[in-house]
Amino acid sequence: MAVRFQKENGIFTIDTKNTTYQMKIDSYGCLLHLYYGAAVRENMEYLLVYADRGFSGNPYEAKEDRTYSYDVLPQEYPTLGTGDYRSSALIVKNADKTECCALKYVGHEIKKGKYALCGLPAVYAGGSEAETLEIEMEDEVSGLSVKLLYGVLAEEDIITRSAVFINRGTSEMVIEKAGSACLDILSGEYDLISFYGRHAMERNFQRNPLMHGNMVLGSRRGTSSHQYNPAVILAAHNATEDTGACYGMAFVYSGSFQFEAEKDQFGQIRAVMGLQPEQFHYPLAPEERFTVPETILSFSGNGFSGLTANFHNCIRNHILRGNDPKQAGPILINSWETSYFDFNGNTILALAKEAAGLGIDLLVLDDGWFGKRDDDNSGLGDWVVNEEKLGGTLNDLSKKINELGMQFGIWVEPEMVSEDSRLYREHPDWALCVPGRKPVRSRNQLVLDFSREEVRTYVFDSICKIIEQGNIRYLKWDMNRSISDLYSKAGVPGRILYDYVRGVYDFLEKLVQKYPDLLIEGCSGGGGRFDAGMLYYTPQIWCSDNTDAIDRTRIQYGSSFFYPVSVMGSHVSAVPNHQTGRVTSLKTRGITAMAGTFGYELDVQNLTAGEKEEIREQIKTYRQYAGYIKTGSYYRLSNPFSDPYAAWLFVSEDRKKALLNVVMLEKHGNMEVIYVRLKGLLRGEIYVDGSTGRGYDSSALMEAGVPLSLQMNEYDSCQIEFTLRQAGTGGGSSCLH
Ligand code: GLA
Repeated sequence: MAVRFQKENGIFTIDTKNTTYQMKIDSYGCLLHLYYGAAVRENMEYLLVYADRGFSGNPYEAKEDRTYSYDVLPQEYPTLGTGDYRSSALIVKNADKTECCALKYVGHEIKKGKYALCGLPAVYAGGSEAETLEIEMEDEVSGLSVKLLYGVLAEEDIITRSAVFINRGTSEMVIEKAGSACLDILSGEYDLISFYGRHAMERNFQRNPLMHGNMVLGSRRGTSSHQYNPAVILAAHNATEDTGACYGMAFVYSGSFQFEAEKDQFGQIRAVMGLQPEQFHYPLAPEERFTVPETILSFSGNGFSGLTANFHNCIRNHILRGNDPKQAGPILINSWETSYFDFNGNTILALAKEAAGLGIDLLVLDDGWFGKRDDDNSGLGDWVVNEEKLGGTLNDLSKKINELGMQFGIWVEPEMVSEDSRLYREHPDWALCVPGRKPVRSRNQLVLDFSREEVRTYVFDSICKIIEQGNIRYLKWDMNRSISDLYSKAGVPGRILYDYVRGVYDFLEKLVQKYPDLLIEGCSGGGGRFDAGMLYYTPQIWCSDNTDAIDRTRIQYGSSFFYPVSVMGSHVSAVPNHQTGRVTSLKTRGITAMAGTFGYELDVQNLTAGEKEEIREQIKTYRQYAGYIKTGSYYRLSNPFSDPYAAWLFVSEDRKKALLNVVMLEKHGNMEVIYVRLKGLLRGEIYVDGSTGRGYDSSALMEAGVPLSLQMNEYDSCQIEFTLRQAGTGGGSSCLH
């Protein structure tokens, strides 16, 4: 059993393969957090030290005991109004407008299997793979019942947390802040690692020491956002890629969120992940329920690489769905950077013909195929094929593409409407807009009110018609602006953002159920909604609108801490790159795109015969490695934000093959030699460098590394497969010395 309860001392212990999580019902019925970290066999209550701390209040029940204070004790799910002045996980406004809530233990259940969340994405696992702990707490005065949910995937070292509120009182209350998980750490110096960004430069790595005070990040945009990813690491000061303690927290949610990390007066750390409290005031009527989206937690004592392995396994095996999420997806070519809005049926078919000849599997017709849409100022919402532009029906085009042996896919942006569209003219009130105010325009488009079922149903039906017309195997689901103007004809402003995200999930769930073979790629101006919530419906997400290979090494590096490469949409595009103007070789662009879903987004007709041949070879190479790129282990071998090179490694599940990838980011005069250390190989074995046939002792490859050739110039790259063999042979090497 991963979850144990000891009645005699009220202690809950959750054991995973390498970690222990412990909490305790104290003598006043409050749930204290005791420990989360490397596996221990101990009652961790001994860690709690009691003292009379000035200005730290005491619960009334403690009588004269001035050493008992919730201002000091580690809490499992802190609420406002108990004398704990640190960040709370839950704030409720009661019917009498007071904001007190004191949750006391009512009961608990330990169940086989992992809980599911109604209408929200969550980690899934079978009865033999997981356990669930439900702890019921209640505020006696208001009647608010809170069910704390813990999902335990012991083998994966994963613990998930969520909470369900039920108003068992007689009057309406309003939830003002809803945290999903709180983590109190009693001691130690910690850094916060977060992934900030902007459009076309998402998920930059940032590491800052926690100081006294609060570090707060999140999104108010209605989407998880380009600006801060809803996944963070608390790393011990001395933690590195391969050593030291670190905690990962990933929110399985695609809307506004908030993460707080607080170092309190005694140097204790509190981390709270949950919904963004601004613009959130959720009324809860008697007997109504509210579910907080889930947070995935993991602890690694072996640095970030251990954490990454846990999250990659969890996302690949317990978040992604579909027929076989582990199988390499199709290699696609996307029309966007090829021709933007400037295409017709013939040009698309010509592109498909050329692409088919190169070995590409699927053609995606991006923006511009519907309504009146020759630029991004009109047409959104009118999901009707522009047959004049295509020179025929969608079915005609898809048939012709299928005849080339290729599959066909399209781009859609279901959540949006252009003011210049038939849909808007007919239903102006379907767009989010505050009465008496002008809405905020972004990319000249407005947001449809997806919190309303009638709106979703209309769009769902029109998108289904398109899918069925065109034998569509792939759908790129885009969302190209942040949400504003929170007013809904159907709802309360304070719940729109949450209801909107649930509306998106509801739509996607219906789509996934109706078309189980449809591959959906998420997108939001590139990677503006790149989170575990979306991955539950869309097993891949366009990583960034920036396709420059050099910037991509950094964007994909930042993304890799939590998300497996198989979910990162990544394409080879034209040079000079459309976003940066940078020129890199086809080889470097290919190697970088292989650390992702791998595809193309350039006019392959304009290439020389030599380049076309190179693409044919690139595709063969990708297919050769795709199996273990998707299912194997991924290792970061450098930090491209600080090192002059980017290096990463894929190791097959049986660890007999390893694919080393290096891109030189900067070149300087008379440069020092760069040694790249491999990881994850079997010890005491010989691995052969596929480019030279030379064998190396695996420990040598991992401890001393391999020197990169000084001949590698700026933006040069190399990709070398190392294969396990019993005996080594001599030989030179290509890009290694
Ligand atoms: C967004 C996407 C792009 C492309 C355009 C089309 O910016 O991220 O890949 O689909 O929209 O308008």
